Amino acid sequence: MKSIRERYGGWALVTGASAGIGETFARRLAEEGLDLILAARRIDRLLALQTDLEKSHGINVLPLEIDLTADDFLPRLVSAVGDRPVGVLVNNAGFGLNGDFLDNDPDREADMVLLNCLAPLKLTRHFARLMADRGKGAIIFLSSIGANQPAPQNVTYAATKAFDLFLGEGLSYELKRKGIDVLTVMPGPTRTEFQEVGNYTAGSGMRAPHDVVRTALRSLGKRMSVTDGFGNKFMTFFARRMPRKWVIAAAAAYIKGFSNDK
Ligand SMILES: NC(=O)c1ccc[n+]([C@@H]2O[C@H](COP(=O)([O-])OP(=O)(O)OC[C@H]3O[C@@H](n4cnc5c(N)ncnc54)[C@H](OP(=O)(O)O)[C@@H]3O)[C@@H](O)[C@H]2O)c1
Repeated sequence: MKSIRERYGGWALVTGASAGIGETFARRLAEEGLDLILAARRIDRLLALQTDLEKSHGINVLPLEIDLTADDFLPRLVSAVGDRPVGVLVNNAGFGLNGDFLDNDPDREADMVLLNCLAPLKLTRHFARLMADRGKGAIIFLSSIGANQPAPQNVTYAATKAFDLFLGEGLSYELKRKGIDVLTVMPGPTRTEFQEVGNYTAGSGMRAPHDVVRTALRSLGKRMSVTDGFGNKFMTFFARRMPRKWVIAAAAAYIKGFSNDK
């Protein structure tokens, strides 16, 4: 089978590459020989990753300090990317917020929608057109098993991830005829900074970022969506088949297990 670089082209853009799953995507795609554009707010981390990856893999890395919730993020990012042909787009940056809807900071909730939904939408619209002109490309969306049902104490996050799942699965059909493979990945709880940022507790049996990335890269080009991990696959299966009321109650109990306030 052809390599990712041969299938899609030489450059990958990874959002949220300064930590967790995004950093792991960057490391794996560097191993595959792709040149990288790495976007996040913490430029010190991106610069350290650039030094590491350029030295160990002989690739080119462009670090971009950018807040993807800013109104003008797209023109700024597009101008920095210039004419580098982005063959792989990983829409990874995102965060959740654990807690009662009425107690959560409304600005953080709104930023979650901008980061988890609007940024991937705008990036995909821009880069998919360029991929379509070249007749090849790949786009990966990071959704979540939270996308499969509404989740009390996690309502906005689950809604944003349902948006990503629908956007990604719909586009996988629409863009296939343009030569673009679209994959939506649904991780379950995974050990990253996500828990600290969103006020969740880390539970036992969590997956590692490299599990999620391995699942994603194995499925790219073969499926429209994939759930990472056997236990998470079981929950996805259950959530899609049981009566909605039961599933929401089960989700409330499940989320409570990851709550600092239980
Ligand atoms: N970990 C889990 O349990 C889990 C489960 C299901 C789905 N997911 C999804 O997986 C994706 C990656 O999450 P993760 O677990 O790797 O979380 P993480 O370790 O907290 O990493 C999040 C990344 O997003 C970036 N980011 C946050 N706000 C940003 C902003 N305004 N502009 C630009 N970049 C921003 C962060 O970089 P800066 O702070 O430097 O900007 C960081 O690189 C997310 O979409 C998440 O919803 C995670």
